[in-house]
Amino acid sequence: MSSSILVTGGAGFIGSALVRRLLLSTESNIVVLDALTYAGNLENLDGVIDGHRCRFLRGSITDTRLVETILQGEKFDGIINCAAESHVDRSIESAVPFIHTNVVGTQVLLDVARRQNVRRFLQMSTDEVYGDLPRNADAFRSTSPLAPSSPYSASKAAADLLVLAAHRTHGQDVVITRCSNNYGPRQFPEKFIPLMILNALEGRPLPVYGDGRQIRDWIHVDDHCEAVIRAYHDGDSGAVYTIGGDCERENIDVVHMILKATASASAVTHVTDRPGHDRRYAIDVSETATRLGWTPSIRFEDGLAETIEWYRTHQAWWTNVKSGDYRTYYERHYGSFHEGTL
Ligand code: NAD
Ligand code: DAU
Repeated sequence: MSSSILVTGGAGFIGSALVRRLLLSTESNIVVLDALTYAGNLENLDGVIDGHRCRFLRGSITDTRLVETILQGEKFDGIINCAAESHVDRSIESAVPFIHTNVVGTQVLLDVARRQNVRRFLQMSTDEVYGDLPRNADAFRSTSPLAPSSPYSASKAAADLLVLAAHRTHGQDVVITRCSNNYGPRQFPEKFIPLMILNALEGRPLPVYGDGRQIRDWIHVDDHCEAVIRAYHDGDSGAVYTIGGDCERENIDVVHMILKATASASAVTHVTDRPGHDRRYAIDVSETATRLGWTPSIRFEDGLAETIEWYRTHQAWWTNVKSGDYRTYYERHYGSFHEGTL
């Protein structure tokens, strides 16, 4: 059996999909390190953690001593860092947790990985580090300038720079992936697509920020994970890979697709816009396609239908995650918006 891979944030939306895919496509053992914040959920790894091939450890990537103990305990080939505070709206409300996990946590992992001779470090980053893209501008490429708009994206950009600094200064073997908006099963309902699906299924209003004409590039989480695995195995050290679904859509159009697919009579409600809201993201995947032999394969219409079906058939999952803290967040966040203020 080959050495292990540490997947941080593996109980989250993308991390859990990545763990599933890694178990199928590699021979490595997988160790998941996750703090189980509000967004982490062990149910996301149901049927996956077996205590042998795949093990789970609860803890924070900011805890140097814990990370050191884990990496000393067995031979790790690499770390794939998916752990993060990931929601833009929450970063606007309170930025400090984003700095702790996304910036300090990444540096802790880099330092300990270097001390323990871990071969490769993959940082799962985001296209949001490039900021707002004008409608008529060419899509982001790996070399586009960093211009983050929100505390979330600024913390991710800071982490990317620390990862590149570790490569330049210490010769560390690092790879960065920057992906556009993911959707798919097990996404926490604070995010746009699951929030709209669940509100549509429950007959609640769909809160569209501003005019709803902001553009996001949507990619199925499984397509993202496949690209990350290729970058982990075949990516050049020090390289940045942009990943996207080649699927730009206005938010309002996605909302109407969801209403139609769920046959919901829910109202669309235009609410006060997100401060500093980026109007458009778009990714040029041609470079990554050439360098990694990867292209997205799941059509948005098919992936969205499959995702809606997943939420329809997993009510216990979302009833659990929507109770408690999330309810308080939802009421605080959406309760404070004024409808019809466009
Ligand atoms: P998520 O919020 O669903 O999951 C994040 C996970 O990290 C959770 O399981 C949480 O418990 C864990 N975590 C948080 N703080 C931690 C800490 N200090 N120590 C250990 N674990 C901690 O997020 P996601 O959507 O799955 O995103 C995963 C990664 O991908 C993030 O780095 C995010 O920036 C990046 N990304 C997300 C998207 C997207 O559309 N969701 C797109 C591009 C990149
Ligand atoms: O681009 C990659 C990024 O995509 C990731 O790095 C982030 O972790 C991830 O959260 C996502 O960021 P966005 O801010 O683009 O995603 P979000 O789901 O929050 O919002 C998507 C779009 O929908 C955005 O234009 C804001 C809008 N929106 C969102 C919510 C939650 C609404 O109109 N209403 C809402 O209630």
